[in-house]
Amino acid sequence: MARLKVGVLISGRGSNLQALIDACAAPDFPAEIALVLSNRADAGGLTRAQEAGIATAVVPHRDFGERPLFDAAIGKVLKEAGIELVCLAGFMRVLGDAFVESWRDRLINIHPSLLPAFPGLHTHERALEAGVRFTGCTVHYVRTAVDDGPIIIQAAVPVLPGDDADLLAERVLTAEHRAYPLALRLIAEGRIKVVGNRALVEGSYAAPAIGLNPPDGP
Ligand code: GRF
Repeated sequence: MARLKVGVLISGRGSNLQALIDACAAPDFPAEIALVLSNRADAGGLTRAQEAGIATAVVPHRDFGERPLFDAAIGKVLKEAGIELVCLAGFMRVLGDAFVESWRDRLINIHPSLLPAFPGLHTHERALEAGVRFTGCTVHYVRTAVDDGPIIIQAAVPVLPGDDADLLAERVLTAEHRAYPLALRLIAEGRIKVVGNRALVEGSYAAPAIGLNPPDGP
């Protein structure tokens, strides 16, 4: 079976990229990372890609006066690499409408909250401030509004007494590293169908257990 050719866009440390690299290392995984592209030459994730023998590209946003020119440059590199699906993994630039539309349903993102709660930045601080009992992460198709689009997978983690933003971020990040490879696998297996604003999963699966926080009992 031909493996889905994935391009991963990063700006930083690339721990989600690493989770995807590790998943793709399994011989039966239905996707392969053909390119890692960063807008920053110093992104730690570039080293992870190089160590895994994956092609890298740096497209510095500062080299382009206007966003559409930057977007077009990225699009060209992705096309030349034969990329079929783009995964945003800590990519800190907002992509313009034309780019997003040209990759419609072939462009996904991971966000560190249970969308539609807490789109944007500082999600963990805002979750703590709001006093929610659960937060988590969302992998979703990208639409032109920021952190919007059909939800492929979510993972919930509890907010615990004594949490600060760093502790919560760490717990959510562990969930991200499970969720992103799973979303990629579902897409690469052709099991996700976008209908309107929903991403439907084909095939049945067992309902996850109810999460109760605080728990019932000691
Ligand atoms: C993650 O929390 C991701 O959800 C958000 O940016 C962060 C990237 O972290 N979009 P890393 O570079 O994957 O470690």
